[in-house]
Amino acid sequence: MKKQQDTRNVRREYVQGQLAKKNLDQDPIRQFGHWMNDAVEAKIKDPTCMTLATCGEDGMPSARIVLLKHHDKSGFCWYTHYQSAKGIQIQDNPKASLLFYWHDLDRQVRVSGLVEKLPVEISDRYFDTRPKESRISAIVSPQSKPIESREALLQQVEQQTLISENTAIVRPEFWGGYLLKPSEFEFWQGREDRLHDRFRYQKADNIWKIERLAP
Ligand SMILES: Cc1cc2nc3c(=O)[nH]c(=O)nc-3n(C[C@H](O)[C@H](O)[C@H](O)COP(=O)(O)O)c2cc1C
Repeated sequence: MKKQQDTRNVRREYVQGQLAKKNLDQDPIRQFGHWMNDAVEAKIKDPTCMTLATCGEDGMPSARIVLLKHHDKSGFCWYTHYQSAKGIQIQDNPKASLLFYWHDLDRQVRVSGLVEKLPVEISDRYFDTRPKESRISAIVSPQSKPIESREALLQQVEQQTLISENTAIVRPEFWGGYLLKPSEFEFWQGREDRLHDRFRYQKADNIWKIERLAP
């Protein structure tokens, strides 16, 4: 059997950049936009991947990757199954946190706030832009529920594909978008000797307060 790696010795220095208060945008959403542009321009793989952390009624946190589809001054959007594990947790507790990690830039961004469902028209519009196969997959997948087998799922795909030859593929009510409305951000830039730069934005009386945090 292959020997397990000793992860205690896996380390590197973070030397890609630095972050100073004077260079930060007063608006964290604009600051996020600058960093997202940098990530896209740096050709980072999956720059829109974000970890979504939720916590339901039982108080047990749960995290998974989803794709950021849109962001603007109202917040951050992604799409999923409303009856998935995360969907049920959000229904029970609308507080959530998003995490972006852009490895090649040594940058991390945390965003937290309250989550709400996007209006149905916006979910419809986005659903209609998805490739046919992805729309069918969304319809047949009872996301996060146990299923009998992959074969059974593929049978559902086949059936739905036949149905869709004669009827439009419309967004099912159980699938759609969420919007996280941010109340807190943290921008992290890795630095040498683990003395990283961290800045937190917190919203109070509609004004963003910016503070440097210890690494
Ligand atoms: C790169 C990547 C992108 C993903 N994008 C999404 C997404 O946009 N929406 C989604 O529902 N799940 C997405 N997933 C799957 C989720 O991580 C997760 O398995 C699924 O949503 C079920 O999560 P839940 O059981 O906690 O609800 C993605 C996974 C990966 C690794």
